[in-house]
Amino acid sequence: MLLSRSVRLFCACFSVTALAQFVPLQDASLTTLNAAHDPNITISYKVPKGACKTAFDTQKQFSGWVNIPVEGRSTSLFFWFIEAREPTSTLTIWLNGGTGGSSMSGFWQENGPCEVVEKDKDHLEVKAREWGWDRASNMLYIDLPSVGFSYTTPITNGSYDSYNATTIFPPEPVPKWSSPWAFMNGTFSSPYPLNSSANTTATARLVWHLLQTFLSTFPQYNTPSNSSTGISLFAKGTTAPLAALLASYFHSQNPSTSSTTLSTTLPIKITSLGLLSPCGLDPLSQAQSYVTMALNNTFHLPLLTQDQTTPIMSAYHRRRGCSDLLLSCRHPSSSTNSETLLVCLQAWECIYGLTIPYQQHTSRSLYDISSPSFDPLPNQTYLTFLNSPKFLSAIGSPINFTDLPPPLPALGDDPLVAIKELLSQGVRIALLSGDRDYLCNWYSGQSTSLSIAGSFSRYSAFHTTGYAPLLINKTYTGGSTRQLFNLSFTRVYDAGHFPSHSQPETTFEIFSRIILGSSISTGEKVNLASFATKGTPEADKTGPELLATNVPNARCYIRKVADTCDDESVRAVLRGEGVVINGVWYNSVGDWQLPGQRSDGEAAGEAAPTSTIMTGIFTTSLSAAKPTSSSGGFSSWDNPARGLLMVSVLAGLLLL
Ligand SMILES: *[C@@H]1O[C@H](CO)[C@@H](O)[C@H](O)[C@H]1NC(C)=O
Ligand SMILES: *[C@@H]1O[C@H](CO)[C@@H](O)[C@H](O)[C@H]1NC(C)=O
Ligand SMILES: *[C@@H]1O[C@H](CO)[C@@H](O)[C@H](O)[C@H]1NC(C)=O
Ligand SMILES: *[C@@H]1O[C@H](CO)[C@@H](O)[C@H](O)[C@H]1NC(C)=O
Ligand SMILES: *[C@@H]1O[C@H](CO)[C@@H](O)[C@H](O)[C@H]1NC(C)=O
Ligand SMILES: *[C@@H]1O[C@H](CO)[C@@H](O)[C@H](O)[C@H]1NC(C)=O
Ligand SMILES: *[C@@H]1O[C@H](CO)[C@@H](O)[C@H](O)[C@H]1NC(C)=O
Ligand SMILES: *[C@@H]1O[C@H](CO)[C@@H](O)[C@H](O)[C@H]1NC(C)=O
Ligand SMILES: *[C@@H]1O[C@H](CO)[C@@H](O)[C@H](O)[C@H]1NC(C)=O
Ligand SMILES: *[C@@H]1O[C@H](CO)[C@@H](O)[C@H](O)[C@H]1NC(C)=O
Ligand SMILES: *[C@@H]1O[C@H](CO)[C@@H](O)[C@H](O)[C@H]1NC(C)=O
Ligand SMILES: *[C@@H]1O[C@H](CO)[C@@H](O)[C@H](O)[C@H]1NC(C)=O
Repeated sequence: MLLSRSVRLFCACFSVTALAQFVPLQDASLTTLNAAHDPNITISYKVPKGACKTAFDTQKQFSGWVNIPVEGRSTSLFFWFIEAREPTSTLTIWLNGGTGGSSMSGFWQENGPCEVVEKDKDHLEVKAREWGWDRASNMLYIDLPSVGFSYTTPITNGSYDSYNATTIFPPEPVPKWSSPWAFMNGTFSSPYPLNSSANTTATARLVWHLLQTFLSTFPQYNTPSNSSTGISLFAKGTTAPLAALLASYFHSQNPSTSSTTLSTTLPIKITSLGLLSPCGLDPLSQAQSYVTMALNNTFHLPLLTQDQTTPIMSAYHRRRGCSDLLLSCRHPSSSTNSETLLVCLQAWECIYGLTIPYQQHTSRSLYDISSPSFDPLPNQTYLTFLNSPKFLSAIGSPINFTDLPPPLPALGDDPLVAIKELLSQGVRIALLSGDRDYLCNWYSGQSTSLSIAGSFSRYSAFHTTGYAPLLINKTYTGGSTRQLFNLSFTRVYDAGHFPSHSQPETTFEIFSRIILGSSISTGEKVNLASFATKGTPEADKTGPELLATNVPNARCYIRKVADTCDDESVRAVLRGEGVVINGVWYNSVGDWQLPGQRSDGEAAGEAAPTSTIMTGIFTTSLSAAKPTSSSGGFSSWDNPARGLLMVSVLAGLLLL
């Protein structure tokens, strides 16, 4: 009974013509211009109508590619720019990290101006996100070379094998062991990456060209070079080291003030570097943090026994262990580039291998100790949305979207050196970590902040600077923050590896305070030549037992079978049993519920409450925050009047 129904649905789903699976080569709707600083570089862009519903219709958007000749080919870097909800001169560049690498995951799952919601079976829509970072800044999302929507020529037809998480060239019929759900044809970046793609300097240069081209094409979004709230660079997870090296590369390219004014090169000054759930900056701290987090976390939740943690530090310190490998990576002994790359890859595999005891002995998510290993959150519905013909033509993409790991950038450079240099140039360095994350946990984030401050005399008082409460609104304290001058570390309460997903309001407020250069604790204007937080010596306030969070059941996304489906669902997907609705596999159609009718607590399709205010940044003062009475003392939302206008805009969902 069940089977026959599934088979029928299965066939209905895949009666598409073969041609429709591949993306058309050229999109005539893109405007192409030459870059001002280099005529060999072009920019092709358009207004991506219908791709992302913003809080206000007045917010301009441009998406496209900057096409750069490299090694006799062309590499095209994808960008998507969204104007802030209210006029501002701040510009923020977002770079994702993690296993995916495309900034589209941060855009759609964490802090972008909009999010995808299910409206009905096979009907997705986009709505404005309340705490999107466009609330405080103009936003520029960038995909690194050969990641996400970025591509290198020649683009090539192939098949995407979701089970092995890989692309295959040329396209093949669905193999016997798989099903059309997990094995799809599409058009992708060249299967041969650039020779230099694993090279930090080469990557930095490509991103620099993108910024030069974008800022000269859209000079209205460049910030005055003397502005204190100029261009910020925010990066996530394992991209933190690359982000630090990018910022220092940009600065090294700036024309010196003495050089002639004829230069067509625009100065790019990064005023703040924000690192969310940073990993890979300080490997020894990261290794030790895997023991601390397992034995002694603030939730009184033992994750491993003492014995189970023993292999962690021994794998780090033993001969040819992580420490030795890292040393050979950072100080290569006259070996060739490819040998260095190999040893660097081994070093990083070794470091991330230190999470194996956790993965073996717990059935919890690496990204959130309160979730099961097949963590359904944040949800991945955007993967299906981004591959719909309507979305691809809205941005004029010649390729499908994939969320495959990027080639690791060269890891030989020490990012802590770059960060200290940026700090000495007056760049604000802000780290923040969610306290439920295991992979890039807050103990590691905290130790990294201490390593940055260490051996830097101006910041020698950092380790004794007190942790102040992170005041988010009149009633909520979102974490604990230590800030001395331009350096800060913040522990975000009750957040996993995706702090914007777990704590959207808190993460937004921290973001706005970083880019404005205010107190991270209160949002007040402060003088960063002398400011220091006051408070407790540690941020280790323990909470009650982990709240029995209302974790939805695992969800099996057909475009991410390996990451999201448990064994039983994988088998069913590969056999083509069950149904797929909006990119998610279900046992039967009855398991899918109308959005809004779910019992799993996830805010589904319905529009936000009509009282949602879509603008404003919260500021208060510590003295006002003393819990005396609930009235008075707090300054309020910047601009409530404008916010109320939002109601009608928000209600108008975009159909797609
Ligand atoms: C542009 O490309 C041409 C031909 O490859 C080369 O000769 C020229 O130097 C390039 N110009 C710049 C500014 O790189
Ligand atoms: C890049 O590598 C390929 C082999 O993978 C080689 O044939 C080609 O010459 C290289 N190109 C450059 C510019 O080094
Ligand atoms: C993903 O999240 C959105 C918004 O939070 C929701 O509307 C949608 O239904 C979710 N997708 C699934 C498969 O639950
Ligand atoms: C992909 O295949 C389609 C259909 O055969 C074809 O029209 C298209 O040109 C191909 N694209 C590329 C990049 O080869
Ligand atoms: C993908 O997985 C299948 C099933 O285990 C296997 O037969 C196939 O060889 C794998 N392909 C690749 C490229 O790893
Ligand atoms: C994918 O393309 C290949 C080669 O053109 C073709 O044999 C196969 O049937 C296509 N797959 C599907 C699911 O249509
Ligand atoms: C990185 O790439 C640049 C440009 O392609 C090259 O000049 C440099 O030698 C490379 N560095 C390393 C370490 O491979
Ligand atoms: C920045 O420079 C412009 C002129 O180049 C000047 O008008 C403006 O006042 C300066 N702003 C600051 C904050 O110094
Ligand atoms: C756990 O943390 C507490 C407080 O920071 C500390 O006193 C204790 O030594 C730690 N225990 C272990 C096993 O690390
Ligand atoms: C690529 O996009 C086309 C058009 O939307 C779609 O039919 C196809 O399934 C996509 N392929 C992949 C691998 O996502
Ligand atoms: C922090 O950076 C600002 C410029 O962004 C600078 O004026 C200030 O002196 C810096 N503070 C310290 C202690 O270096
Ligand atoms: C304060 O922030 C918390 C966490 O973001 C949120 O749940 C709560 O609704 C907010 N309260 C007010 C009054 O805005």
